[in-house]
Amino acid sequence: MSAETHPVPQDFRARIGPDELAALRRAFDADPDAFWLDQAQRLDWEKAPSQAGDWSFAEEGFAIRWYGDGQLNLSVNCLDRHLPAHGDRTALIFEADEPGTGRTVTYRELYEETCRFANLLKQRGIARGDRVMIYMPMIPEAAAAMLACARIGAIHSVVFGGFSPESLAGRIKDCDACCVITADEGVRGGKYIPLKRNVDTALEMGDVPTVIVVKRTGEDVPMKHGRDIFYEDWRGALATDCAPEAMNAEDPLFILYTSGSTGKPKGVVHTTGGYAVWAATTFDWIFDCREDDIFWCTADIGWITGHSYVVYGPLMNRATSVMFDGVPNYPDFGRFWETIDRLGVTIFYTAPTAIRALEREGDNWVTRHKRSSLRLLGTVGEPINPDAWEWYWRVVGDGRCPVVDTWWQTETGGILISPFPGATPMKPGSATQPLPGITAELVDAEGKTLDGAASGNLVLTSSWPGQMRTVWGDHARFFETYFSTYRGKYFTGDGCRRDEDGYYWITGRVDDVINVSGHRIGSAEVESALVSHRKVAEAAVVGFPHDIKGQAIYAFVTLNAGEEGNDDLRKELIQEVRHDIGALAAPDKIHFTPALPKTRSGKIMRRILRKIAEGETQGFGDTSTLADPSVVDALLTGRQ
Ligand code: WT7
Repeated sequence: MSAETHPVPQDFRARIGPDELAALRRAFDADPDAFWLDQAQRLDWEKAPSQAGDWSFAEEGFAIRWYGDGQLNLSVNCLDRHLPAHGDRTALIFEADEPGTGRTVTYRELYEETCRFANLLKQRGIARGDRVMIYMPMIPEAAAAMLACARIGAIHSVVFGGFSPESLAGRIKDCDACCVITADEGVRGGKYIPLKRNVDTALEMGDVPTVIVVKRTGEDVPMKHGRDIFYEDWRGALATDCAPEAMNAEDPLFILYTSGSTGKPKGVVHTTGGYAVWAATTFDWIFDCREDDIFWCTADIGWITGHSYVVYGPLMNRATSVMFDGVPNYPDFGRFWETIDRLGVTIFYTAPTAIRALEREGDNWVTRHKRSSLRLLGTVGEPINPDAWEWYWRVVGDGRCPVVDTWWQTETGGILISPFPGATPMKPGSATQPLPGITAELVDAEGKTLDGAASGNLVLTSSWPGQMRTVWGDHARFFETYFSTYRGKYFTGDGCRRDEDGYYWITGRVDDVINVSGHRIGSAEVESALVSHRKVAEAAVVGFPHDIKGQAIYAFVTLNAGEEGNDDLRKELIQEVRHDIGALAAPDKIHFTPALPKTRSGKIMRRILRKIAEGETQGFGDTSTLADPSVVDALLTGRQ
């Protein structure tokens, strides 16, 4: 397969061109430690680090450490250091659900809001190392809440507002949080999301001492005396400065829960120094953001993309970052492009699922808006099909704006494989090449390293500063999940092809993680929600290709004796998943079957289920290990 190559557009001028990129790669090869210490100089350190990385992937109980003797505060790096010369610069542009009803926040204002929040947290007894949940809409107070935690050394854990109270409760319990920051309600796509009420439901399963509620809509919400306070009631009395804690580089900054192939979501732990260096470095390298740019990453802060490229990366680089609390199709399919014109957005970063959904609505929604401010486009979250890439490049970007297809993960803290917009020729559908400092390899099933053009599993052979450090409360699971498949290497969970030019083409997850609209769903979590229904005996969940979402969820379900599978039960089961996890995990297809294909040892053969979900009727490979091969025929007749 040879794809058309797009050179860097002629008029695109970036700080990093081909020569600068080559120099970065040479610098890393020559002296990795010096290279990494050099990147750390982007930050203001309370105590500058003298060491770069100190890590091993090979032993259980190992530690990954970066800049270990350094001390810093991330809120200082995002705010304080910009104030003397740039306090009046816009830090955030809040773009609310209803077009034009947002506001802008300067660096000084965000500093003051952060300090107020930090002082309130302190007054409530929250201290360094405590865990604080953030369950909020995309409003500036959410960024201030994250930065306030960073300022006092509390560890934040942001939970996407689309997760159910059950999910929130599970996360609160897992990290033993002592505070939840939320809003009365969220508003998205014209619909109201009862955030505070969800928090109340979650806290019935395990309470916390403090709930701070920001007023977003003014809706009357129940407040529990002694526990719940309105931020607005306290705000006026809170001081607008707050001394920052000097954090050790390896002190945890945040926990972010993400789905894996087994069990309940893992608390991915990122620490202060290394994460900060990597978010700041990659934002600078890949987005080439300058004084007059307006940067818009459409992700929610409930995901890692929102952490690294709505809040921390842009603010460390003194950029102007758009915080969008809406959806791509409200009030109409032109929302993105109308907003880009109104705000003068120059750099736009979104997900393939949104691009595909908008492409389907026709070019007119795009072309009726000028988009002349745009100079750089990016995508993230899942493989982008070449067709959607071409549409993004040609229709949205008018063939002028480089497209950076950025591959990374919650675990990696920031981008690892991507073009440099001013230096790397692009191939639609390829994230191109690993960034300087990132050592990627392809391996076969036995772990043998593959050279040259090849297809295999993507692993990383050395650490980088933004790498996650552990699974909260379960270091053994960290080792087991990422380092036990291929001894001494970090296994990404992704399959990948490398072409003759050394370009990487991510083909998607090779484990039981399903990527629905760029959101990670673990099949085990959905299965456990389904079997919690009293009529269900067993469930097996796989992904299948979906035009818009990339992948959607296909559930095979066996019922208890005497139960009948019908559309009413399908609705109940979908409701069960929404209740236990959230709407984003709802199956598209539910297939009732008398039995699941199992080996004689009782292991479900998902390979066969994936094929059936994809609509295949033959070519199931070796089925001789099945305990009962006739199960396959029964499955074929019941396909949804
Ligand atoms: C998984 C990580 C990184 C922030 C958003 C998702 C897939 C991500 C790409 C891309 C192909 C991609 C991978 C990865 N993925 N970006 N540009 N091309 N696949 O973070 O929820 O941790 O998911 O998303 O499968 O492993 P996440």
